[in-house]
Amino acid sequence: MDTKDNNTPDYAAFLVAARQLLGPRGLTQDAELIEPWLTDWRGVYTGAALAMASPGTVEEVAALVRLCAAHGVSLVPQGGNSGMSGGATPDTSGHQIILSLRRMHAIRTIDAEARQVTCEAGVILQNLHEAVAEQGLRFPLTLGGKGSATIGGLISTNAGGTQVLRHGTMRAQVLGLEAILADGSRFDALVPLKKDNRGFDLKQVLIGSEGTLGIITAATLQLAPAPAGRRVLWVGVASLQMARAFLLHCDAMAGMALEGFEIIPAYSLAAVLHHLPGSRAPLDTDHTWHVLVELVAGTETMAGLQDLAEQVLATAFEAGLIENATIAASESQAEAFWLLRESISAAERARGPAVQHDVSVAVEQMPAFIDTVAPRVESAFPGTKVIAYGHLGDGNVHLHVLSPAGSVQGEWQKTTGKKISALIYDCVAEWGGSISAEHGIGQAKLAELARLTDPVRLGMMRAVKHALDPGNILNPGKLVPLAPDQAKP
Ligand code: MLT
Ligand code: ZN
Repeated sequence: MDTKDNNTPDYAAFLVAARQLLGPRGLTQDAELIEPWLTDWRGVYTGAALAMASPGTVEEVAALVRLCAAHGVSLVPQGGNSGMSGGATPDTSGHQIILSLRRMHAIRTIDAEARQVTCEAGVILQNLHEAVAEQGLRFPLTLGGKGSATIGGLISTNAGGTQVLRHGTMRAQVLGLEAILADGSRFDALVPLKKDNRGFDLKQVLIGSEGTLGIITAATLQLAPAPAGRRVLWVGVASLQMARAFLLHCDAMAGMALEGFEIIPAYSLAAVLHHLPGSRAPLDTDHTWHVLVELVAGTETMAGLQDLAEQVLATAFEAGLIENATIAASESQAEAFWLLRESISAAERARGPAVQHDVSVAVEQMPAFIDTVAPRVESAFPGTKVIAYGHLGDGNVHLHVLSPAGSVQGEWQKTTGKKISALIYDCVAEWGGSISAEHGIGQAKLAELARLTDPVRLGMMRAVKHALDPGNILNPGKLVPLAPDQAKP
């Protein structure tokens, strides 16, 4: 390692070499250019950076990582910076490099016959949706941040979104992967093989590893045929138990056509309507819970899908499962329904500090879990409000706790918010659930993962990290709670 003395990297020498390698377009220390990338999307974490590197090719990424390894300088990979757990925010030392993959945004190939796309890490999800749609294809994973989230970020956090019910998380979409490892070598496994039983599925080790084991530079993804169309339903229900019963009903009647089932509490709908100028509620707002259902035509015709949607609702009414419902009359109305759902986070962010928990328990236990945890938190922390929304169909809700009026952003989360999270995660552990269903660990849940993970699992995580990144240069301080003797200062 090239260091000034035994411990301190020679940052000046590193910067000279990095500048030589990447040129002015590929490396900047301009504070104004770097500043927007130092704070996470939620505005909870703000770090500092020695520089921001923006390589344009996989070879440049490899050379940069080699240089970092030689100098003992650590890297924080970043895509759209829309993560929810602070995983792409550098620490406050000012000694880390932000490695932006945003310049690597080429869609290398679309194979319409094989229904596969190979693209670079910096491709924005929405751009991918549009590019494959032009070929009559669809990339089914979608989420609220699709206008900024990048494929590399989505893979490295194993993102979920709103179509997981039918299509699975990012893990299920990745057929092949290209990544640069901590020594600068290239893991080249872009070729999609339907069967490959050579032992460990190494690409799956990298997926969801949040940049701690390698830098994802490109991927081959599975596509689906573009559907003939969809029907989007907005439904009012009286309770979470009823929402769950309605989910079972939809599943039984619609089967593979059921792609999304999202719950929205009355509070969040009101917040979104307030936040989005000109927006309107699809239904009367007198319901305690709202449900957004998406049915997508597979083998059905659009007329058949419309019939199916009407029958699902008519029989649910007869069975007393739902209070009121409407079907979006056009694609633009369907978009408007989804916009309400996808704006919950932004509406909440505009309102003030909150702590977010992205938890899962067994689907059938979710209503009882929320009904138990919410009052427990609100009575232990007066002035707070618990809201739960999201992917009931996946047994995953976003359990957010809004701060009392007057709380200070950042500070409240790091003090009272921490205590609230500990209480909630204890409950999740009691119910046998996961403290991170889809947003990953990042820095936000690192300590809680260490506290609540059994020693065997923790030991395996540490062993994998140590084997692949012995110098701890790849996104240190994220995801893997290292033992004190493994973590470098
Ligand atoms: C969502 O489903 O809207 C996001 O994953 C949740 C969030 O912003 O917490
Ligand atoms: Zn979500």
